[in-house]
Amino acid sequence: MGKIVSVHSFRGGTGKSNLVANLAASLASEGKRVAVVDTDIQSPGIHVLFNLDLKQVAYTLNDYLLGRCPVDAPVFDVTQSLQTERGQQVTARNGAIYLIPSSMKVDEITTILSEGYDIGLLTQAFQQLVNHLNLDFLLIDTHPGINEETLLSIGLSDALIVILRPDQQDFQGTALTVRVAKQLKIPQMGLVVNKLLPEFDQNEVKATMEKTFDASVVGILTLETEMIRLGSRDLFCLKFPEHPLSRQIHHLAHWLS
Ligand SMILES: Nc1ncnc2c1ncn2[C@@H]1O[C@H](COP(=O)(O)OP(=O)(O)OP(=O)(O)O)[C@@H](O)[C@H]1O
Ligand SMILES: [Mg+2]
Repeated sequence: MGKIVSVHSFRGGTGKSNLVANLAASLASEGKRVAVVDTDIQSPGIHVLFNLDLKQVAYTLNDYLLGRCPVDAPVFDVTQSLQTERGQQVTARNGAIYLIPSSMKVDEITTILSEGYDIGLLTQAFQQLVNHLNLDFLLIDTHPGINEETLLSIGLSDALIVILRPDQQDFQGTALTVRVAKQLKIPQMGLVVNKLLPEFDQNEVKATMEKTFDASVVGILTLETEMIRLGSRDLFCLKFPEHPLSRQIHHLAHWLS
């Protein structure tokens, strides 16, 4: 039975999309079958990390939610994005990554936002994707903050990663997300601190965060200039496989497994 995992943050730009894409790569490299759903309808972006040109695709998640196509129409096999520069594919055995992108067309975004859609369709989509694609993991890249899709996605998830930066503005909102997750009784929840300056004591940060949020910190990711320079053009784990940040991401993938 496939595991549904949401990655959420209260504020934007915390690193959700990069984390989801790299977790997908890490899991697929261990032979897992993974799908990534971009539920960030207002500001989609994760397709960039998988090099998927949305101008070339006939259907997106928006079409499905508007009842224009079945759920498998906007599914794209992006396993080839695991191809490294040296030409090796790092997928083990049957590992695969499928991407369900959200539309980048203004009219399609505004139609969904103004007219809404049957939220039950999203629930159905997750279950059908897990079954049709025989998934081990379905990773949901969410829109920041609390909105209907987010609450639904979190509520349906077997695991939730709440990501935050070490920034006072992130703290209050994160506390809110953690409270919601506890009320929804998500079976597995962990906090990930991202963009921590390397000079900070990670053990101290972990202890402080766990006390503040009464939740486990399952990953501490440092702010890395290589990641900034990469600018979401590629998957960090593939580009820098031996980097400590890649090892942290693999560690997080194991926590999910
Ligand atoms: N550990 C890191 N070190 C340096 N830069 C990072 C790190 N993690 C993410 N970034 C950078 O932060 C920016 C935002 O990342 P990303 O798009 O993944 O965040 P997001 O939470 O998905 O944003 P949004 O809320 O807008 O969807 C990107 O430029 C990315 O390269
Ligand atoms: Mg994002």
